[in-house]
Amino acid sequence: MTRLVAVEQEPIDAGPSEYVRALLNILEDFTLEKERLSDTQKAFQNIFEDFGSEKARLETTQRAVLNILDDLATEKRRLEETQMAVVHSERAVRASLREKDLLLGEIHHRVKNNLQIINSLLDLQANMTTDDRAASALRDSQNRIQSMALIHQTLYQSHDFAKVDFGRFLTTLVVHLRSSYGRADIEMCSRADAVHMLIDRAIPCGLIVNELVTNALKHAFPGQRTGSIRVELRRLDAERVEVSVADDGVGIPDDADLGALSSLGMQLVQVLTEQLGADLVIHRRNPTRIDIRFPQP
Ligand SMILES: Nc1ncnc2c1ncn2[C@@H]1O[C@H](COP(=O)(O)OP(=O)(O)OP(=O)(O)O)[C@@H](O)[C@H]1O
Ligand SMILES: [Mg+2]
Repeated sequence: MTRLVAVEQEPIDAGPSEYVRALLNILEDFTLEKERLSDTQKAFQNIFEDFGSEKARLETTQRAVLNILDDLATEKRRLEETQMAVVHSERAVRASLREKDLLLGEIHHRVKNNLQIINSLLDLQANMTTDDRAASALRDSQNRIQSMALIHQTLYQSHDFAKVDFGRFLTTLVVHLRSSYGRADIEMCSRADAVHMLIDRAIPCGLIVNELVTNALKHAFPGQRTGSIRVELRRLDAERVEVSVADDGVGIPDDADLGALSSLGMQLVQVLTEQLGADLVIHRRNPTRIDIRFPQP
């Protein structure tokens, strides 16, 4: 375009042939200018075409992004539905656990009540019998039943229906046994580490303690003799516990055969210690002490 200026240049002062050449030059310049213009136009066209395809590409990308957003919204909805379903099933599981707990508590309550009924029946029978030995045997059986009932009572009162707080059970048991044998003169002492036992271990262990404390109450302090009975539950390590029953009474006579068929108590202790996988150690006197050690995680 700037070349047009050439037309306005100073007048050509020449002959006709020079004039024609000048015109030809100008025409040539025009042609070149035209070609250049057409190139520029083509370049612009290309740019526009590029813009067009870029626009189409952008539109495709935009559509893809919109699709992804749609997918994400669907996925979010699905996640929310799954989350709701999880919350509902968690609530259902909790409700059924609560129900199971209540039922378990109810079962322990009923077992305890049934054992109390058996206890009352034996009580009636003991009151009606005139034979002292029979009455005493009935009372021993009553106490065995009562100690099992106490385990169930401890379970439903502690609100942990699976494991027995054994220390709590021991405290109640010793008080009950002393009053049952009418030995308020004997000092009873129980000490327990925090040990919680499943019922299948708590029952045999409770029965063992019942036998050992009963023996101490019945045999260790004859006549006017008094003294003390100490029951201890100790955790030895992460895997084992020890239960000991000790008294400062007369001691177990050397001729007392603790495994003899004639005495039920110590036989029961031996069977139950085997059931627990326990070691049994007997110190006959000064002080009399019986230890049982068994696995209890
Ligand atoms: N702590 C104790 N102090 C003194 N003697 C004991 C003690 N424990 C047990 N004995 C003696 O050991 C014997 C055996 O005890 P065991 O419990 O087996 O029988 P029992 O108590 O006589 O009868 P049961 O069958 O009713 O228990 C007792 O008769 C008693 O002589
Ligand atoms: Mg006995």
